[in-house]
Amino acid sequence: MNLRVVMLGDIVGTPGRQAVAQQLPVIRERYRPHLVMANAENASNGTGLTPSHYRKLKDAGVDGVTLGDHVYKKVQIVSVLEQESDIARPANLPTQAAGKRWFRLKPAEANLPTVYVVTVLGRIFMGTPANDPFATVEQVLTELPERDPVVVVEIHAEATSEKIAMGRYFDGRVSAVLGSHTHVPTADARILPGGTAYITDLGMSGPHDSVLGREVGAVVKQMTTAMPVPFDVAQGDPRVNGVVIDIDARTRKAVHIERIELPADRNKPPFVLGAGSSDSSGPDNDE
Ligand SMILES: [Fe+2]
Ligand SMILES: [Fe+2]
Repeated sequence: MNLRVVMLGDIVGTPGRQAVAQQLPVIRERYRPHLVMANAENASNGTGLTPSHYRKLKDAGVDGVTLGDHVYKKVQIVSVLEQESDIARPANLPTQAAGKRWFRLKPAEANLPTVYVVTVLGRIFMGTPANDPFATVEQVLTELPERDPVVVVEIHAEATSEKIAMGRYFDGRVSAVLGSHTHVPTADARILPGGTAYITDLGMSGPHDSVLGREVGAVVKQMTTAMPVPFDVAQGDPRVNGVVIDIDARTRKAVHIERIELPADRNKPPFVLGAGSSDSSGPDNDE
């Protein structure tokens, strides 16, 4: 029997949260996943995740939540990181950083294996000082309470080379290595030779009429003038991006991976007609 998991790329702002809330029932119906995970490091006004938005994503049907370099941008999330069992910080932050280094999700079907999820930050072109992501995942693998677990590794990194190297290094030892952080989906979803599902970047679940989720004009102005400009979250063309993966429950090897990209309909709930162009005017930007 196969275990089917969906992993969604970085949820960006109100449009990203609304797109996920609207499209998750479609994903559940179309793909029938046993578990859905999502990176939510940009979910609250473009950086970080508030406790309220964490709960809304859970209510929308996200089973497990990962974060990236923006993990602590909404510092209120620390209590959630310390209390909840389905969310973790990047594992290769300093030892004393708040939050768990991995979490586990048990599918409702009793005969399917638990999935262990660990996110690590890359070190190339990344601003956050982080420990060796390769050695960190090695260490986490020795800590897991099962001998032959299903493990999904998220490599939250800028450089394609670092992400591909992570995939190759752990090929055959984990069920999936999935890239995030660039917000641009890549066309290289595949099963590596050892049986690990891999993609260099999941892409973003957010407004695609944008520069990585931010308003085009603001980013272009900053880049063409070198002057500081506030980067508001964009609104147009909200899409959900991610992958669906089938894992053989017996061998723990991945047998299938495919990209999913679902455009949201801004004329249907939970989108609010006439909402302003700034993320801060969104209907549930409540923290
Ligand atoms: Fe991100
Ligand atoms: Fe990031």
